[in-house]
Amino acid sequence: MNRNIIATTPFPGQKPGTSGLRKKVKVFQQPNYLENFVQAVFDSIDSCEGQSLVIGGDGRYFNREAIQTIIKMAIANGFETLIIGQSGILSTPAASCVVRKYKALGGLVLSASHNPGGPDEDFGIKFNRSNGGPASEAQTDKIHQITESISQYYTVDLDPIDIDRVGEVDLGMAKIQVIDPVSDYADLMEELFDFAAMKQLLSGPDFRFRFDAMHAVTGPYAQEIFINRLGAPKESVINAVPKEDFGGHHPDPNLVHAADLVNQVNEQALDFGAASDGDGDRNMIIGHQFYVNPCDSLALLAANAQKIPAYKNGLKGVARSMPTSRAVDRVADKLDINCYETPTGWKFFGNLMDDGRISFCGEESFGTSSDHVREKDGLWAVLCWINILAATGLSVAELVKDHWKTYGRDLFTRHDYEAIASDSAAKMMETLNASLEGLVGQSFSGVQVTLADQFSYSDPVDGSVSNNQGVRILFENGGRIVVRLSGTGTSGATLRVYLDQFTQDESITDTQAALSTLIDLADQLIGIEKFTGRTEPDVVT
Ligand code: G1P
Ligand code: ZN
Repeated sequence: MNRNIIATTPFPGQKPGTSGLRKKVKVFQQPNYLENFVQAVFDSIDSCEGQSLVIGGDGRYFNREAIQTIIKMAIANGFETLIIGQSGILSTPAASCVVRKYKALGGLVLSASHNPGGPDEDFGIKFNRSNGGPASEAQTDKIHQITESISQYYTVDLDPIDIDRVGEVDLGMAKIQVIDPVSDYADLMEELFDFAAMKQLLSGPDFRFRFDAMHAVTGPYAQEIFINRLGAPKESVINAVPKEDFGGHHPDPNLVHAADLVNQVNEQALDFGAASDGDGDRNMIIGHQFYVNPCDSLALLAANAQKIPAYKNGLKGVARSMPTSRAVDRVADKLDINCYETPTGWKFFGNLMDDGRISFCGEESFGTSSDHVREKDGLWAVLCWINILAATGLSVAELVKDHWKTYGRDLFTRHDYEAIASDSAAKMMETLNASLEGLVGQSFSGVQVTLADQFSYSDPVDGSVSNNQGVRILFENGGRIVVRLSGTGTSGATLRVYLDQFTQDESITDTQAALSTLIDLADQLIGIEKFTGRTEPDVVT
């Protein structure tokens, strides 16, 4: 096999965001665009020689072409073993599991998560390191730097590899192992949970459950775990066949995009509903006429962890991203374990787990997981809930209300303003930053600001510092406003405003109304309308 050196020139903007490089498919389809980025990833690693690399993704449009390109480049860069999910499929948590299990140097995960797929939609690529978690910020900065001056990449001449059949091919220079994408992950889940009790619940007559795979990657995983291994009836899993364009939908598990699920659970009075996103790392949990906020879900799972076999000895600690409500902090307090506040994005949890400081972590953006992998894990969260429901015999609503009774309640909402002009967004953030110093001590509607800053995180394990991770404004009555710009969008800028308020009132059902004072105040302090012309958010979660 000849190793070819191909000359190339840099593309601007190959900067990984919150979770890898995400661009429109059309951008990725430009000659050398994908190649430049992949070579930069390989160049950012000390040596690929003799190592193994995991490759897989959420099955979206352009995955298959990308995988053939990556196979040739990985071989030319010295990798000895390529472990590829059958048909190019590996959910993000399964990729993390496989990297760890096979002791690979890392993995390339091809996904744009919950963003839509198809020829005119999004594609993405992300490097995960040997712990199975996303590359550190230092490495993604290095990758970006390399893309800015790249002049060549390496590839080999090779006919397309059949990735649809499980098995091993020895090419001499390298071995290709096409693996069943589901079994390693499903086996890991079976080790963590009380499958016997869960099987009794799911296969019994008194509990009706629905999981929405949203035409995305979790379909085959859900089929194997819920139906084959846990005995749930066939109709329990809907939209189970992964499609390259996710059936034209946003594979984003929230009340708007998982409407099929919400309707079925409410109309058929089902006991439990859940959904996951494009690449299987997010989760939404609902009960009959009852939505569980992801911040509450993290707190509740932490509080009930000892009902799950893998965590029966208790949690080492917990962590949440800064914009996530402080509900889990209250649980950590009671359990007398550490709670870390990290910037948005999963890459910040990895060090805390590797260092044995935390077991559970989560983000308000429908992400929850534990140290069984180094990614957020949608199905894991759903299995946690089923395990806890089986152990307690309570309903979803009862569990959450009991939790609020014990710990108090953190009302939470996020308002997104999408595709705003990047320069207006930058101006708005600049103005807000400049106003922060004067805010502390000021009162609004009789409530004083106790802290106003730009969040900066100092990693307690490696000492690295990440600045400018979002504005926090805290009030003396337990209210909080957080403001940041998204790092995953592919057009213009997306403003995210997070609002939360502590209360003891369990009876509130209209979160937006209960938070309206804070919402109005946020607009006033940020100047959303003034800078963007927008009067309403595009998405409210
Ligand atoms: C969003 C979420 C963040 C999550 C990321 C990847 O990033 O807010 O919590 O880790 O997607 O799923 P953002 O667009 O806000 O940068
Ligand atoms: Zn995702």
